[in-house]
Amino acid sequence: MSRLAIIGGTGLSKLVNLENIHKRVIKTPYGEPSSPLTFGQLNGVDVVFLARHGYGHNIPPHRINYRANIWALKEVGVTDVTAVAAVGSINRSMPPASLVLPDQLIDYTWGRRSTYFEDDLEQVTHIDFTCPYSRELRQKLKSAMNRTGIDVLDTAVYGCTQGPRLETAAEVKKLARDGCDLVGMTGMPETALAKELGLNYACCAVVVNWAAGLEEGGISMQDIDGYAANGMVKVERLLKVLVTEIQIEADE
Ligand code: HPA
Repeated sequence: MSRLAIIGGTGLSKLVNLENIHKRVIKTPYGEPSSPLTFGQLNGVDVVFLARHGYGHNIPPHRINYRANIWALKEVGVTDVTAVAAVGSINRSMPPASLVLPDQLIDYTWGRRSTYFEDDLEQVTHIDFTCPYSRELRQKLKSAMNRTGIDVLDTAVYGCTQGPRLETAAEVKKLARDGCDLVGMTGMPETALAKELGLNYACCAVVVNWAAGLEEGGISMQDIDGYAANGMVKVERLLKVLVTEIQIEADE
């Protein structure tokens, strides 16, 4: 039986359509998650919601306790995680307001607590991270996108930078040379930690700006907020359909 969690990023610190909600503070061996978990029903299906940056959107990407967040979800029986993340786009075929399901990532972050496998080990543990995202959950997201009439963009490399500043134009050129299509700040270590705990994890990226240097005149924070707000309306529509996909499978 699968149990879905949604991690909300910038622009999505709560789910408007969530009903019968209650919140629970979860303690973990890694400290406090970004926020209490919200339990509720989306379209009649039980889901768990976590606000990655806190409900007040006051935790910057490099200060998020990713280990506590993912641990808390596992602790309450979550099996599948759809992580929503605002990103900049480097790929001209993924303009602002698009939803993209990356299939690969490159990690440019530093100094983040990025593994559960470092203390009190009986033996050194490595995980296979060839395919960072869950094939099955991506499939369900694609199918929900089709049913919702949202263009399916599902081949993209997500480059995760340290932030909280945005990139220089030269950094974005380097990301493009590396093969990145999207740039965000929260995909790592979140994705790897989910894999370490055996969760099915997929990222639904919401493009909120052209990455640095792609447009003349720089990046407007006001435009980012506008695209984030519009993008999240699409995400909420998508999630309502996604939960029914998951439910149908559970009933089969
Ligand atoms: N760079 C990094 N992270 C981001 C961006 C960006 O341009 N836009 C939204 N998150």
